[in-house]
Amino acid sequence: MKFADAEKLLAGCGQEHVLEYWKKLSAKEREALLGQIAAIDPKSVKLCRASLGKGVTAAVDTSKGKAPKVAVLKGAALKKAIAAGEKEISSGRVAALLVAGGQGSRLGYEGPKGCYSIGPVTGAPLFYFHARKILAKSISYGASIPFYVMTSEANNDATVKCFEQNDYFGLNPDDVFFFTQGMWPALSSEGRIILDSPGHIFMSPDGHGGLLAALKRSGALEDMKKRGIKSVFFFQVDNPLVEIADPAFIGHHVLEKSEYSLKLCAKRDPFEKVGMPMLVGDSYRMVEYTEMTEEQCLRKKNGKLYYLYGSPAIHVFDRAFLAREAAKAMPLHLAFKKIPFVENGKTVKPDSPNGYKFEKFIFDILPNAKRTAFLAFDQKDEFSPVKNATGNDSPETCRADMRAKWVRMLEEAGVKVPASLPIEIDPVYASDAQELLKTGIMLEADV
Ligand code: UTP
Repeated sequence: MKFADAEKLLAGCGQEHVLEYWKKLSAKEREALLGQIAAIDPKSVKLCRASLGKGVTAAVDTSKGKAPKVAVLKGAALKKAIAAGEKEISSGRVAALLVAGGQGSRLGYEGPKGCYSIGPVTGAPLFYFHARKILAKSISYGASIPFYVMTSEANNDATVKCFEQNDYFGLNPDDVFFFTQGMWPALSSEGRIILDSPGHIFMSPDGHGGLLAALKRSGALEDMKKRGIKSVFFFQVDNPLVEIADPAFIGHHVLEKSEYSLKLCAKRDPFEKVGMPMLVGDSYRMVEYTEMTEEQCLRKKNGKLYYLYGSPAIHVFDRAFLAREAAKAMPLHLAFKKIPFVENGKTVKPDSPNGYKFEKFIFDILPNAKRTAFLAFDQKDEFSPVKNATGNDSPETCRADMRAKWVRMLEEAGVKVPASLPIEIDPVYASDAQELLKTGIMLEADV
C-alpha cells in the first residue's frame, strides 16, 4: 500500500490521526504501518465505532427463558448413538476444529497457549494431548480426521513451529490445516484507533467467532467440503480432558439431524461463570452468566437447579451450517480494557481501562441453527481448563484432574496406582480401560 492510499483509507473511516507520527518513523516502521493499515477493513471500523456506547448485541430478556432439554444417554440409547458416531467417523465424515487464537492473558504465558507444558510426567504441551487423541481415533476407526487449527497473527508462526518440531505429534501433516483469524484495532471511547507506539496500531484477535470468516477466507471450509466432511467437532485449546470426536456425541448429533450440538455439564456451583443455553422465544441462545439474575441462578425444579447446565464450549457443527453462517455478519461484543497508548510520542501503560476491544463469539450463531441437540456429560471426565496461572482452573488443578482420570481408567482395568506415583498415558496407547487391557499395562514401578 502507498502512503496516499493509506491516507484515503483512513479518511474514509475518520482515522487520519493514525499517520500522526509518519514523519518521525524509520523506513522499516513506515512499511510495517502501511501493512497494518492495508489490513484494516474501514467498514468494520465504522461498525465498531457505531457500537460504542450502545453495544451491537441486543440485550436478551431472559425472564421468560426456558432451560433446554438435555439428553442423558444410557443403555440402548447410548449404544445407538455410539454406533451412529462410529459409522460417521469410520466413513471419514468427521473433522476436528480447534480454536487456538486467544491471547491467554489470564495464564500469562508467553507464546501460544497450546504450547504450554501440561503433561505431568513428560511435560508435553496442550497441543500434544489434542493431536494424539485425534491420531488415536483415526487409527481406531481406520479413517483420517482432518485437524483444522485456528491461530492468530500473533501466535501462528510459533504454533506451526511447535507442530513441526514435534513431527506433528504423529499426525500426517497433510491432515493438519492451520489458518489465522482476523485482528481488529481497538478504539478509544471517542472512537479513535489506538496506537501503542508511534508507528504501530494496537490490534487484538477478533474473538473465537472470528472462526467463521477465517474458515471461509482461508479455504478451510472448501477443504472440508472436498474431503467429504459432514460433522465438525469444535473444541478449545485449554482443556486437555476433552474427548475429541467422541462417538456418542457425534452419533447423537447425527441422529438428531442437528446443525449445532452442544455438550453440557452440571455447573459446579449455581453462579459458575459459564454460558448457559436457554430457549428464548422460539430459538436457543447462549446466555452469559452476567445476564442471569440471582433468582434465576438459584431457581429450583424437583430439587435441582432449573438452569443446571453450563456450556464448556464443546460443540459439533454441521459443515453446511458453518458455510451458511460464514456468509453472514456476526454481532460484536465490546470489552473495556487497559490498552497501551502513545502520548507525546511515548508509549504509556494505563492503570485503568481506556479502550475497547471488539470480539465475535461463536455461540452467537446458535439461534440460527434449524435443529439443535444438547448432551449431558460428567465434568470431571471431560472438562478442566487451564485459564488462570494459579487457583481455580489453573495448570495445577488441570494436572490433578488429568491424573484423577487416568487413575480411574487404571483402576477400572484392575490396577492399583500408588498415590506417590506420577502417571501419564499417551492417548494413542490407550484412551479407556478396555484399550489399556488390550494394549497391556506396565507401570514404571513394575519394571
Ligand atoms: P478464552 O475466552 O479463554 O480466551 O478463549 P483466551 O484468549 O484463551 O484467554 P484470556 O481470556 O486472554 O485469559 C477460549 C478459547 O477460544 C480461543 C482461545 O484460544 C481458547 O481456545 N480464542 C479466543 C480464539 O481462538 N480467538 C480469540 O480471539 C479468542
